Order: sequence, then structure tokens, then C-alpha cells
Amino acid sequence: MASQKQGGCSSGFLAEFKSFATEAIHVGQDPEQWKSMAVVPPISLSTTFKQHGPGDHAGFEYSRSGNPTRNCLEKAVAALDGAKHCVALASGLAATMTITHLLKSGDGIVCMNDVYGGTNRYFRKVAMELGLDVSFADCTKLELLKAALKSNTKLVWIETPTNPTMKVVDIKACAAIAHEHSKNTIVVVDNTFMSAYFQRPLALGADMCMYSATKYMNGHSDVVMGLISVSREDLYERLKFFQNALGAVPSPFDCYMCNRGLKTLHLRMKQHFSNALAAAKFLEADPRVERVIFPGLPSHPQHELVKRQCTGCPGMISFYIKGKLEHATAFLKGLKLFTLAESLGGYESLAEHPAIMTHASVPENERAELGISDTLIRLSVGLEDEQDIIQDLDQALAAAHPNKK
Ligand SMILES: Cc1ncc(COP(=O)(O)O)c(C=O)c1O
Repeated sequence: MASQKQGGCSSGFLAEFKSFATEAIHVGQDPEQWKSMAVVPPISLSTTFKQHGPGDHAGFEYSRSGNPTRNCLEKAVAALDGAKHCVALASGLAATMTITHLLKSGDGIVCMNDVYGGTNRYFRKVAMELGLDVSFADCTKLELLKAALKSNTKLVWIETPTNPTMKVVDIKACAAIAHEHSKNTIVVVDNTFMSAYFQRPLALGADMCMYSATKYMNGHSDVVMGLISVSREDLYERLKFFQNALGAVPSPFDCYMCNRGLKTLHLRMKQHFSNALAAAKFLEADPRVERVIFPGLPSHPQHELVKRQCTGCPGMISFYIKGKLEHATAFLKGLKLFTLAESLGGYESLAEHPAIMTHASVPENERAELGISDTLIRLSVGLEDEQDIIQDLDQALAAAHPNKK
């Protein structure tokens, strides 16, 4: 599954996935598939497709059930995940909803206790209301996952690294436990933070790898999309059916954009890693910072696992600023290069306050348990010049703590 030796930031990590860049650029993109021989896949906006005779068509009938531009994207993503198939959906949450439809009332879901706020909200406020038995467990502790599995458990939902506290889950160990419980338990990994470039959940034993492609996979903060990669034929058939039957499909334009974004995924991720590592080292050495959580730093409690499981780390850093909410607010307001905004994974640097912004929907007591406090700040380090990123962090820390340093 992995090949070349890594240098630079990635040294000591799992080796790069073989031919990743070549596949990102070529799989699903063959010009011969178009009469025009277009090198770049056209945006196929037609909602409907001519049939030679009733039921006798050239592979496409109606754009919700299948679209040529979407096909190109799905083939490329499947290759990058080392999967047989991929299904593209209208958003990350649409992907979560589509996967959840594989279950029926009374079935159980065990979800990592620290997940994207919208995933938590969907499971609690929608799936539970529909009669699904959802429980949350800290899957970083394998004995807690084991204890959470019940006779009705059909799905185990893992997010790693977690958002925003960057806990790392051992995918291989969790998949083994879930499959030992029952070989039909579906193990899903939300791979949004790592992207296909840094982590391959299917190769570690997961059944599905899902993304908010809104983040790194598209990478340009201009598309909302979800992706699910899968190799099990039975699961693919059901997901493909739901893609059409539930209808949460992305537009051909967005498919075109995301397919284009994938062509530079490897380049972007390497630079995100390099910039984030420099920023994390700077923050860790700064007296105005309480603690930095970055899986690429040796100080991260699961750094060894990250190196075993991933080929590198993305641009996501969380840190606790010294002081109180007012210091976090002053830091965020003081940023000039980083934009104070939700979301992550684009070329531009973003910063946010999880407790007030992205994770406000997580109940307060759980936020406290997870460490999502008033002083926690999440950064999505972009692709700007390293020294400008660090300079901006430095001057915003000075705005928050004028008398320190
Ligand atoms: C880790 C993770 N998973 C899922 C989602 C949901 O994706 P979307 O916003 O594309 O619906 C997000 C969104 O922020 C996310 O960060």
C-alpha cells in the first residue's frame, strides 16, 4: 500500500501511497471517454440523456442517478482511497445521512465521543429521533469501544484526528474489535482532516472512508461536498441506490471543481504539513500559549500511532491560549492574515473558537469533558508563506497578552 521513502516533515511516518499523484491526475480522466477527446473532463450539465430505445442507453439516464462529470470524480477518489468505488454526495453531512440509511430503527451506532459538532448533532437530534440507538465512546481507549458494542450495534463511527481536540484513534485496532464483535459491523472513518493523501482507512480495515470534501479534498473553500469510498460490493450497491433514492447529489459544477482540486492534493497537503509543523513548533515554544495539540509534534500523546497510521499531518492545530475567554477573543480579533471563520482545509489560513463557533451544538457538559474550553483555539494553517503565518500568530498573541514575552 505504501512505497517511497519519506524525507522532510514526513520522515518517520508511513511511506507515501504508491503513485498517488499519478492516480490523482489520471484515474477517471481518460480523454477517450468523450467524443471530443477533451483532456479535462467537461462539466456535463444536462439533467437527462438520450436513449436509443426505451431502456437502451449509453450508461446515463437522469443526472441524479448518474452524471458523467460525477463519474470522473468518483473514479479518481476511489483510486486515491485504494477503494473499488466512491459515491459523491451533496455535503459531508449528506454522506453521513446516506450511510445512516443503511440501518433501520432499533439498530445501534457507536460513535467516537469527540466528532465534528454537526455529526454529533445529526446522530443525537435526527438519527436518535428516528429510533436508532446511538451511543458515544472514547475510541482512543479500546476497552471503552469494546464495552460500548452491543448485540444491536451495526455501525461504528470513527473520526481521526478528532475535531477539534486532535485525538488519534487506532483505526486498525478499532476495526479489528468491531469486526470481531460481528463481521457485518460497518466501520466508517471520517477522513476529512487527514485527506486521502495522509491516511487510507480501508487499508487499515475500515469498511468505509467518508469525507467532508468541502475541506482538503476540494481544498479551495468553494465547494460543499461529501464523498464515501467503499470496496465491499454489497455496501456499494446500497449506497449507490441511496445516492439516487435519497437524492442528496452534488452538482456537476461542484464535481468538476472537486475533481480539479484533487489534481494538486498531494502538493497542497505537503505544504499544509510543512507550514503547520513550523507554526506548531512556534506556538509550543511561546510563553503565551498553554498547550499545543498537533499530531505531527513529538509532544502529541499519540504521535507514535500517527507515524504508524499516516503518511503525514494536515494543517490543523488546536491550542490553548493562556488566560481566559477574553484572551482567546483578543487573539482571534487580532489576527490579520488568518481569517476568523468556520471550516478548514482550504489554501487560506483560518482560525476559529470551537466552543462558540463549530462546536456550539455539542452539549456544554460534554464540551467540558472533551476539553473544548473557552481558551481553545483551532487553526487551519493554509498555504501562505511560513514566515508570514508565524508573524501573524506572534502579533495576535501580542494583542491578546500585551504584557507577556
Ligand atoms: C470532520 C468533519 N466531518 C464532517 C463535516 C460535515 O461536512 P459538510 O460541512 O461538508 O456537510 C465537517 C464539517 O466541518 C467536518 O469537519
